[in-house]
Amino acid sequence: MDLKVRLWMWNHKYGPLVHLSLLFYVLWITGLNVLAFLLLPPIAFLAYQLMPRGQPSGANKYNAIVVGSGIAGLCSAVKLQEIGVHFTVLEKGKHLGGTWWWNTYPGVACDVISHFYCISFFPNPWWSRAFAKGPEIHQYLTNFATYFDLHPHIKYNQKVSRCKWNPELFKWDVTTDDGSVYTANFVISACGQLHAPKMPTYKGLESFNGPKFHNTQWDHSVDLTGKRVGVLGTGASGVQVVPQLAKQVDQLYVFQRTATWVVPKFDPETSYWKLAIFSLLPITMTLYRWVLFWQSEMRFPLMLKPDSPKAKMIGQNIAGHHAHVLKDPEMIRKLTPTYNVGCKRITPSSFYLESFAKPNVYVETGKIAEVTCDGITTENGHTQLDAIIFATGFDRLRSMNAFEVIGQDPKINLCQAWGEAPQAYMGLFMSGYPNYFTISGPNTSTAHNSVIFSLECQTTHAVNYIAQMVQSELKSLDIKPEVTADHMGKIRARTPLHVFSTCVNEAYQNAQGVLWPMWPYSMVYLWWRSMECDLSLFDVK
Ligand SMILES: Cc1cc2nc3c(=O)[nH]c(=O)nc-3n(C[C@H](O)[C@H](O)[C@H](O)COP(=O)(O)OP(=O)(O)OC[C@H]3O[C@@H](n4cnc5c(N)ncnc54)[C@H](O)[C@@H]3O)c2cc1C
Ligand SMILES: NC(=O)c1ccc[n+]([C@@H]2O[C@H](COP(=O)([O-])OP(=O)(O)OC[C@H]3O[C@@H](n4cnc5c(N)ncnc54)[C@H](OP(=O)(O)O)[C@@H]3O)[C@@H](O)[C@H]2O)c1
Repeated sequence: MDLKVRLWMWNHKYGPLVHLSLLFYVLWITGLNVLAFLLLPPIAFLAYQLMPRGQPSGANKYNAIVVGSGIAGLCSAVKLQEIGVHFTVLEKGKHLGGTWWWNTYPGVACDVISHFYCISFFPNPWWSRAFAKGPEIHQYLTNFATYFDLHPHIKYNQKVSRCKWNPELFKWDVTTDDGSVYTANFVISACGQLHAPKMPTYKGLESFNGPKFHNTQWDHSVDLTGKRVGVLGTGASGVQVVPQLAKQVDQLYVFQRTATWVVPKFDPETSYWKLAIFSLLPITMTLYRWVLFWQSEMRFPLMLKPDSPKAKMIGQNIAGHHAHVLKDPEMIRKLTPTYNVGCKRITPSSFYLESFAKPNVYVETGKIAEVTCDGITTENGHTQLDAIIFATGFDRLRSMNAFEVIGQDPKINLCQAWGEAPQAYMGLFMSGYPNYFTISGPNTSTAHNSVIFSLECQTTHAVNYIAQMVQSELKSLDIKPEVTADHMGKIRARTPLHVFSTCVNEAYQNAQGVLWPMWPYSMVYLWWRSMECDLSLFDVK
């Protein structure tokens, strides 16, 4: 483990107390006793925070399986470690990191500033730039696992195929593809909603002669230099891939179904002074994180009022940005959305719209009719291609239903219970599936804030309940159906108010238009709700 990281974490943990105590001492000996006294409450608070917390007695009699070693899985693991529950993380891939291990496409990076797109209890003063690129985020997550000594607990190449509740033992039997069976009191499913790629089903797709792959399964053995390449999809992935390909390929054809709102991405490298301040004075980083959180959170009221003058003004400003960059009226018409800002995720980039000024980059907005052996035919004509990249997003439902889950009723798999519009209490709990927690479950996604913040809230919520069960020596916890129904009633009543309901959005809606993945409230409210630990909502044994 890098000594630098350990020293920094020491500084992060104890630094504020040491600094305030030194300041207290200086004020005291210089005779500024009143000022010194003012520092006593924060000093006492910090000291209290650092006091060791006891683990619930008997915790070591319980164990948990965490499925997935992405950010959610790693956070869950650390929280279980804190309360002393044994845990094993099962990961289908060869390495930890989830999203940040699987996605290696050119241009992959986060779109939330890294000092906020990171785990709150493992801040990192060394981000090399405002929006870190994929490999740096992956390294950060590896450091996280090393620091918290998680590696011995992670088993790779263990694709979970089935979880079955044993009502006699009050335990889950977790089976993996290679036939291994693990038994645990609790299962935390941290598979995320974005690991099953969504592939189009156009007529003739299989007949295409050249390489074709989804951006999340980038085939690095294919050299696209000097080729005619088609990219389907203009969501966050497409927006990141297009500028990179524009530099490399001979001709780039972007097949756009719906335009995307794009805002400039100010992405400077981290300056030495910022690095020095953040690493020496950890409190400054905490404050910066707070500023970033509130900046994002301030957008939320606008998402509930897409017709408000302020929301309209923001829309006009972003449209103005499109016009300023694109200049050509035809390109402005094609690449400027007509739906409300915020209905689909706003994608920051200072290179995407700019790419269309290059002579080798074309946008095709005609409806795709078929794929042939040598290209794509749209209603406007045929485009010859050597390779096709699908930046067509993810199947959230398939991602969540990554394996069979059989609860109290052996005849009903969770996938069937969920159908096309999954329901859960706070995204985490499903009636009939005791001691089973889904992180990134139904109605937990956010598009106006950092997903990591939401994941941390959910893992805290799940592990608070586990701690409570351990403390009270309970065997099982099953959410009451009426509690889920009440919660879902409120969620479904709230979603029509949200800007997401104002346009067709395949990424967030099912065929009936139900916005099942989205959390229709603010992140502050999610945080508040995730503090809840109320056993009366459950059937308890
Ligand atoms: C390219 C990309 C960029 C993103 N950038 C941002 C961003 O900038 N800001 C933001 O807020 N959000 C972003 N997101 C959303 C992102 O998904 C989350 O921020 C976060 O990384 C999700 O973490 P997770 O642990 O929930 O899921 P994942 O990272 O997807 O991890 C799930 C893990 O579960 C494993 N798994 C799945 N099925 C099984 C199984 N059957 N058995 C065993 N293991 C299994 C997978 O292999 C994976 O390792 C991005 C998403 C993508 C795809
Ligand atoms: N850090 C980042 O910047 C980053 C990078 C990548 C991903 N992500 C996150 O990951 C999630 C997925 O992003 P994504 O860009 O991969 O997917 P996405 O947002 O779902 O976008 C998919 C794109 O593909 C288009 N599409 C889908 N099916 C198509 C078809 N059959 N033919 C033609 N076009 C089709 C969609 O058009 P329609 O709009 O018409 O449906 C959309 O433009 C999002 O939550 C995103 O925020 C973030």
